[in-house]
Amino acid sequence: MSTQRTRFEAAGQGHVLAHWESLGTAEQAAFEAQLERVDLELTRQLGERLAVESEEDSPALAPPEVFPATVSGEKIAERDRAAARGAELLAAGRVGFVLVAGGQGSRLGFDGPKGAYEIGPVTSKSLFEWHAARIQAAGTRHGFQPRWYVMTSAANDAATRAFFDVNGHFGFDPADVFLFQQDMLPALDGEGKIVLAAPGTLFLAPNGHGGTLAALKSSGALADMAAHGIEQLSYFQVDNPLGRHADPLFIGLHDLAAAEMSSKVVAKRDAAEKVGVLGLLDGVLGCIEYSDLSDDLRHATDEGGALLFNAGNIAAHVIRRDFVEGLTEGGDLDLPWHVARKNLKCLSSDGQPVERPGVKFETFIFDALARTSASVVLEVLREEEFSPVKNAEGSDSPATTRADLTRIAAEISGAADAAVELDPRLAETPGEFTQRAPLADRTPNGVVFRPGQR
Ligand code: UD1
Repeated sequence: MSTQRTRFEAAGQGHVLAHWESLGTAEQAAFEAQLERVDLELTRQLGERLAVESEEDSPALAPPEVFPATVSGEKIAERDRAAARGAELLAAGRVGFVLVAGGQGSRLGFDGPKGAYEIGPVTSKSLFEWHAARIQAAGTRHGFQPRWYVMTSAANDAATRAFFDVNGHFGFDPADVFLFQQDMLPALDGEGKIVLAAPGTLFLAPNGHGGTLAALKSSGALADMAAHGIEQLSYFQVDNPLGRHADPLFIGLHDLAAAEMSSKVVAKRDAAEKVGVLGLLDGVLGCIEYSDLSDDLRHATDEGGALLFNAGNIAAHVIRRDFVEGLTEGGDLDLPWHVARKNLKCLSSDGQPVERPGVKFETFIFDALARTSASVVLEVLREEEFSPVKNAEGSDSPATTRADLTRIAAEISGAADAAVELDPRLAETPGEFTQRAPLADRTPNGVVFRPGQR
């Protein structure tokens, strides 16, 4: 223990050991293991940032160039060529699937990994199962055996693994599923001191989805992809069961443009919608978070009266494997740090449980867009591809997502029942639906269409 005590005291963080004597042997061992993993140099740098925070001018923002959701004229041929290229890459097994699920999902108020949340409108299918089914459907459609990479964090890794196990990996061969963990960082108080969650526990939080890049490398996922001939990563978030993770058009546009990282966007619902917007920040492609967009820019319109900054980030990207390899080479990734000020349930300096202001630090995956030399922004239709589960109630909640899943199932199947669910393994379009000889299970909750035995 003396090593950690010396290290933490030298860094001005010796207070974390104030309760050491009161801990049992097992607690001491667990705490010591936690302390060993803390990067105190990074903690010092982050603490220093708090003192000098954000006097920077806001960058000039301009809308990005977008490949539109609906095309006409010459763009039709471009779209068809790209979709054919994307289908080729999928069939050749060149695309791997990366789900980020390391976040804490605190807004939903669900106790467990967000992916375990049951979202099926008729069945109890979880978000994880929904994503699994979409990926498997792509494998069937294009004739390849998909590999699925799932990022967790220490906050939910054990629970996620257990959930995959009890659910038989949702029909995946466990050998085709690669779970890996992102890093955690200590939360700090306003003075840069590490916060304790309990007498023998640091207050740690996931380091943001920008942590995916380093974690892909350190976990061996990148090497695994290389060994399996995977060149492109289809990246997506756990909260959106409408996501089309194997979209030939998106993959093809990205590949034909020799892009390193590309993004899907939807037109914003209204100025207030809480999505980031893609844009050129001082001429460089990036995403500006909703909380950072000034009121003026949020409401700015073009001559036609449409929102000027309208390219809503749905956090679906295609990323080239060698781009991630380049970024993570040498272990010094250097994405900008974002500071989230939150009320933390933690210990006061005299060891009492309190709730007080603290700071968490995160990097964001979309900040890697600034490092690309080519990048595609594809607009997709919200009603087809974006309905995230964010809040417990109101907009972007389980109720709105289930309603969207039901609406899409009714559109594709033509069924007129009040509650309809379409197993994503079955079909993504009405054409596919009729081709695949669906079975209809009528349950007390509604009707479920699923693939029949083949
Ligand atoms: C995010 C995007 C926003 C976008 C919106 C679309 C950020 C900062 N903003 O907002 O631009 O418009 O999604 O739905 O991301 N995650 C991790 N590890 C972490 C943090 C998050 O894996 O350390 C994962 C979560 O599990 C989740 C996803 O990233 O799958 C999104 O995280 P969340 O914090 O919910 O982002 P939003 O604020 O909803």
